[in-house]
Amino acid sequence: MQKLCGHVQSLVLPAALAGYVHSIMNDNAVAAAVCTTIIGILALGPVLVHILYIMIVATAEDPKISKVSPKTVETLLCKGTFFGKRVLVVGGTEGIGRGIAIRLAEAGANVEVVGRSGGHNVVEQMKEAAAGIEATADGKAPDFRYHCADMSTLDGCLCLLQELETPPTFDSVVMTWSDYAEPSGENYHEEMIFRDIIARFATFHGLSSRGLLAKDAQVVNVLGSAQKITPPGEKDSAVKYMKALYNHYTKEEHASYKPDPNEMNFVASTCISADAFLIQAAARFPNLKFIGTMPGIGTMPGFGRVSGAWNTISHLMKSVISMTMTEEDCGLNHLNIMASQSLSDTSLSFWDHLLIGRLPNKLAADKDYSGWLWETLETIVTKHLEAAN
Ligand SMILES: NC(=O)c1ccc[n+]([C@@H]2O[C@H](COP(=O)([O-])OP(=O)(O)OC[C@H]3O[C@@H](n4cnc5c(N)ncnc54)[C@H](OP(=O)(O)O)[C@@H]3O)[C@@H](O)[C@H]2O)c1
Repeated sequence: MQKLCGHVQSLVLPAALAGYVHSIMNDNAVAAAVCTTIIGILALGPVLVHILYIMIVATAEDPKISKVSPKTVETLLCKGTFFGKRVLVVGGTEGIGRGIAIRLAEAGANVEVVGRSGGHNVVEQMKEAAAGIEATADGKAPDFRYHCADMSTLDGCLCLLQELETPPTFDSVVMTWSDYAEPSGENYHEEMIFRDIIARFATFHGLSSRGLLAKDAQVVNVLGSAQKITPPGEKDSAVKYMKALYNHYTKEEHASYKPDPNEMNFVASTCISADAFLIQAAARFPNLKFIGTMPGIGTMPGFGRVSGAWNTISHLMKSVISMTMTEEDCGLNHLNIMASQSLSDTSLSFWDHLLIGRLPNKLAADKDYSGWLWETLETIVTKHLEAAN
């Protein structure tokens, strides 16, 4: 599909331009109109996608959050925002996480990346990015580390937590791991829920309960925050399968899980649940700063690995109308969000790739749902810890 879209992109625009010239020369008004329409769609694609994003996908703007004016890494370095800070980027060996890690290194932070492979290369890239920085605040050279961990099981999450050393505590934690290798695999939904919700909850739970977070630390969750797409049926029916899945994961109500044929409902429910988790976390840990982001569509593989309609949309956006961001762009966007002045006034914020603060989906903000979610996640993790001891 991606290859096909690539060919479409490289062939259609020149062909449409040539067709337009040819039809004008031959006085063919119909062909000229068709070619003009094709050229218009390709040229105006990003504008149309932007309008559709605002109309269909994005929730309303959060009046408490001021739009961020993007700053360069040099400006952020001058301001000392990240200088000498200790940051953990879980999922920092590739994609958006790697973009964030390298930008943080450039801005003077001490960064630890987590993934299953390739972390040593990222450490080298961070060292190169920080080459101009001689010493951090405490007079030491910047510190970059790689923790090899498989976060696809609770045991894997526990292994990482046991490996992390303090002091000092972490000033920020970025959770951005994903793995869409087999979107049509038998346990695809369970794996997605585990990775995007349960494992991230377990990691946050472990970091906070072990005293690994600074008292005003930032917890950044990169997934798909603040989207208004809500599965039909809202709370009663839409989250039913999501609930069944959690229970499925705990081996209860296994039979009640019926996959929704519309993959978008599933993805939307996952994003809603991720924001619901942050809403509960912010209420329980008022000293910490919780940040949920919708990173935009990146050139990295993550988004393109989902199945169904999302997959087609992402390929179209990536290949046909070139409306994508590089991992470096995504990285800088996240640094700008993390450095936002608005964060000093609020312990919870959701952001999009346009650096606009947005309100959560109304289902995520539903206290019954987010309360149920938090209790369920706590039960899953506590049971596992008890079994492990
Ligand atoms: N890319 C997009 O266009 C897009 C759009 C919307 C939302 N998002 C969201 O943004 C986040 C990051 O996406 P991305 O495109 O950057 O993904 P990516 O390029 O696939 O990177 C994923 C990262 O997660 C790590 N990872 C995957 N499975 C892991 C496991 N079992 N244990 C430990 N680490 C693991 C990978 O490292 P290893 O392979 O070394 O383990 C890698 O560092 C995801 O939550 C995604 O849903 C992305």
